[in-house]
Amino acid sequence: MIERDNLFARPLGTIADFVFDEHVVNVFPDMIKRSVPGYETIIAMTGTLAERYVQEGSNCYDLGSSLGASTLAIARNTRDRRANLVAVDNSPAMIARCQTLLRSQQLSDRITLECADIRDLTIVNASMVVLNFTLQFVPLADRDGLMSAIYNGLNPGGILVLSEKVRFADEGLNKLMIELHHSFKRANGYSELEVSQKRDALENVLLPETLGAHKARLEKAGFSCADVWFQCFNFASLIAIKD
Ligand SMILES: C[S@@+](CC[C@H](N)C(=O)[O-])C[C@H]1O[C@@H](n2cnc3c(N)ncnc32)[C@H](O)[C@@H]1O
Repeated sequence: MIERDNLFARPLGTIADFVFDEHVVNVFPDMIKRSVPGYETIIAMTGTLAERYVQEGSNCYDLGSSLGASTLAIARNTRDRRANLVAVDNSPAMIARCQTLLRSQQLSDRITLECADIRDLTIVNASMVVLNFTLQFVPLADRDGLMSAIYNGLNPGGILVLSEKVRFADEGLNKLMIELHHSFKRANGYSELEVSQKRDALENVLLPETLGAHKARLEKAGFSCADVWFQCFNFASLIAIKD
């Protein structure tokens, strides 16, 4: 059963930095669905992109896989081919729960779960790499290196899906998008207190960049073809394809 997210419902004296621990794992599917506009569309379309891009005999990486939503979408859309799906997360609590979920769906034989830091991962023979709302948690200084590793590990014709919370260079537009996102959360049942305490908890942990910065990094890593395929307020998803 999916538990309702009420982690920030009561007033908290001091607000600690957000971590993906056992408490978050218990409510994660509800939390991400009610917090990220377009989340379910992005996950479903990750599956649609997998159907088109995942190559026979290749590897497919879901980086920052949490409970495996993207991995499962990819698995369901690539049943007709032999490809290794590798789901990686550095939260032991996420990996443990994901393992239980995969076993219950009888998909664990196609999928390798790794509890590791994606910055230490060797990416090889990849036809698809997914970073759905994960790069935003990687320290800024490490993002270029990770993107180069992804580009180098992709096969020609392979695809990267990069979904992120973004910020806007224009101050007024940035403020508007943040307010619209908060309206989305309130419409999904979060109180003003929950919105504000969660924002404080993420302040030093989730570091959004502009779409321009993301595109520049993709180009620097070697991708000559990259653009946004989905956006709702300050949440966007890009695809980048290796020549
Ligand atoms: C917002 S969640 C990702 C959601 C997931 N991709 C989905 O679409 O359902 C971010 C995840 O990235 C993981 N994460 C953050 N930094 C990481 C790192 N350096 N290495 C591995 N996993 C990381 C967190 O533990 C968390 O589970």
